[in-house]
Amino acid sequence: MNYGLTDLAVLVTGAGSNLGRGTALMAAAEGARVGVADVNREAADETVAMIEAAGGTAMALVFDVTDEAQTEAALDRFEAAHGPLYGLVACAGLSRPAPALEMTEQMWADVIGVNLTGAFQSCQSAGRRMIRAGRGAIVTIGSTAALAGHARGSVYCASKHAVVGMTRVLATEWGALGVRTNCVAPGPIDSVMLRKGMTADYIDDVLVDRTPVNRLGQPEDIAAAALFLLSSAATYVNGITLPVDGGLTSGFMNRWNGRDLSSNSSQPFAAPTES
Ligand SMILES: NC(=O)c1ccc[n+]([C@@H]2O[C@H](COP(=O)([O-])OP(=O)(O)OC[C@H]3O[C@@H](n4cnc5c(N)ncnc54)[C@H](O)[C@@H]3O)[C@@H](O)[C@H]2O)c1
Repeated sequence: MNYGLTDLAVLVTGAGSNLGRGTALMAAAEGARVGVADVNREAADETVAMIEAAGGTAMALVFDVTDEAQTEAALDRFEAAHGPLYGLVACAGLSRPAPALEMTEQMWADVIGVNLTGAFQSCQSAGRRMIRAGRGAIVTIGSTAALAGHARGSVYCASKHAVVGMTRVLATEWGALGVRTNCVAPGPIDSVMLRKGMTADYIDDVLVDRTPVNRLGQPEDIAAAALFLLSSAATYVNGITLPVDGGLTSGFMNRWNGRDLSSNSSQPFAAPTES
């Protein structure tokens, strides 16, 4: 693909793992100069090494997205080395699943802190620079949990619904200043973490079974959508939330124990009778 990102400075937070890493790798493969931001130094260094091994340009930026001063300082360092920031993919996030009655104040604060406040601070710090330059594009990372609720997800769903609202406001405020802001809402993405937290049965019988394209997502699915939204092909796209979920949230009651209810042979419905 040619996303028109050659030599542009693109920062990806949470780039030490999974979706963020996949996005950083793809951005670098597209010729962007990538800021690999993560609170985990080892993970960030590993992503940078992967990018450099593939011939790309990257810089590790180790900071905590919940810390405004650290965020500002990291962006200063990145711009000093690689020029004005063009793109941000705000991917750092975490989840603390628990039944609502067992949700603690600390769990709530942790998730809101990173997923919402941290994402906002990344957007604000990046947005300020992009507005100064008169151009830029931001992609926030929501979730299908930004579009509907799921059990044990009170704080996660709340944080991701809020990311969608925040994205819309930034799009409204900054669109006329040359900066577009959009959100990608991933469905379940295959990862070590996903497989560690869920049984194989649940993954196959619930997640995959209810996804019309009949598979989990891959980090590259999210990366491609994020890069499209950063690219010049999307200059009239501002403020959207793009589900990248294989159709998971497009409908319901479409599949039944592996049977695709859209196919004639597996219809559970009684044949219409003439009367
Ligand atoms: N994996 C999925 O199936 C899925 C689905 C929907 C949405 N998402 C969202 O995508 C994003 C990435 O998910 P993932 O699966 O890649 O997660 P992950 O846990 O694999 O990676 C998240 C990265 O963010 C970093 N991070 C965490 N807190 C940070 C902080 N305070 N400052 C800086 N970096 C920090 C971690 O060190 C880690 O490298 C998250 O926002 C998540 O909510 C993931």
